[in-house]
Amino acid sequence: MWKILDYDHLEFFVGNAKQSAWYYRAAFGFKLMAYAGLETGVRDRASYLLEQGKIRFVLTTPLGPEHIAAEHIKKHGDGVRSISLIVDNVDEAFNDTVAKGAKAILKPTVLEDKNGSVKTASIATYGDTVHTFIDRKNYKGIFLPGFEPVEKDVICRPSELKCVDHVVGNVEWNQMNDWVGYYEKVFGFHKFWSVDDKVLHTQYSALNSTVVADKSGKIKFPINEPAPALRKSQIEEYCDYYRSAGVQHIAMHTDDILESVAKLRENGVEFLKIPQNYYDTLIERVGKIDEDIKTLAKLGILVDRDEHGYLLQLFTKPIEDRPTVFLEVIQRKGGRSFGIGNFKALFEAIERDQAARGNL
Ligand code: FE2
Repeated sequence: MWKILDYDHLEFFVGNAKQSAWYYRAAFGFKLMAYAGLETGVRDRASYLLEQGKIRFVLTTPLGPEHIAAEHIKKHGDGVRSISLIVDNVDEAFNDTVAKGAKAILKPTVLEDKNGSVKTASIATYGDTVHTFIDRKNYKGIFLPGFEPVEKDVICRPSELKCVDHVVGNVEWNQMNDWVGYYEKVFGFHKFWSVDDKVLHTQYSALNSTVVADKSGKIKFPINEPAPALRKSQIEEYCDYYRSAGVQHIAMHTDDILESVAKLRENGVEFLKIPQNYYDTLIERVGKIDEDIKTLAKLGILVDRDEHGYLLQLFTKPIEDRPTVFLEVIQRKGGRSFGIGNFKALFEAIERDQAARGNL
């Protein structure tokens, strides 16, 4: 039986990868590692490989309207095209998932250059998002054939982010259980955690969320759907602007959230604003923690506890002009959940921004 070994990378289709790459490097601390484009013999696109810790983002821009990324950008704006996974056997991963009902996007294909070969295949998931399977054990190059290393990055301002913690999908009304079923059936994932609108709501808006995970618990995909409430759900706002289901946020783990968030703020990253009264009752809610409350309040970091420990987290504002994709910074100190105790403070912060956009 084939296995997922880890996240490989997230590929974004963007309007201008050269300029987006600058933003992820200067604001978020990614290092430009490799480039593929006209100069490296790739004729139809430009791609930039960005890396921080084990996190890899690839930003791809089409060089003409006939490339598949052009339609993607026209419909969705900048967004995540592929959640790519390292697997031990691409043929088995593709054949098995397609046999279990996944839609094929790219049959197992071998890419080669002087550094060896990489096998890859893709299947569809929610919206126009895909999962790409990658096996590069026969490859010695920096990333994939077509990419060449970039010598030096003078733009990168590191923020000590280490690895992908989870990747969240927003799906349309009443679609969550179907997509949870998809991951159970096609990938053999299990329900890791789930919460409904009885809990996940404010005075105005609501959503349902279920997290699916692989056996090891390393790969975690929360799936959100809108739920009925007085005003428009943030998930519905996302789907309206993304024009379909898609990736809502990527959570990146750090071993020192105080240091990471201080650096990100210094770099100009915009986070959701958490009211200071959140911190007045924090200790009553979460008990004793290692961090100084004043520092957490200054940096706007949220804390939540479950039966295993606690976690610290913080969310950026959308990183596109459309109110769609955003990023999360998370540090787990034993905590295995997703910050249920923070949903209210968080949703109210999102609603204030939604109202400012005229979308609440
Ligand atoms: Fe998250």
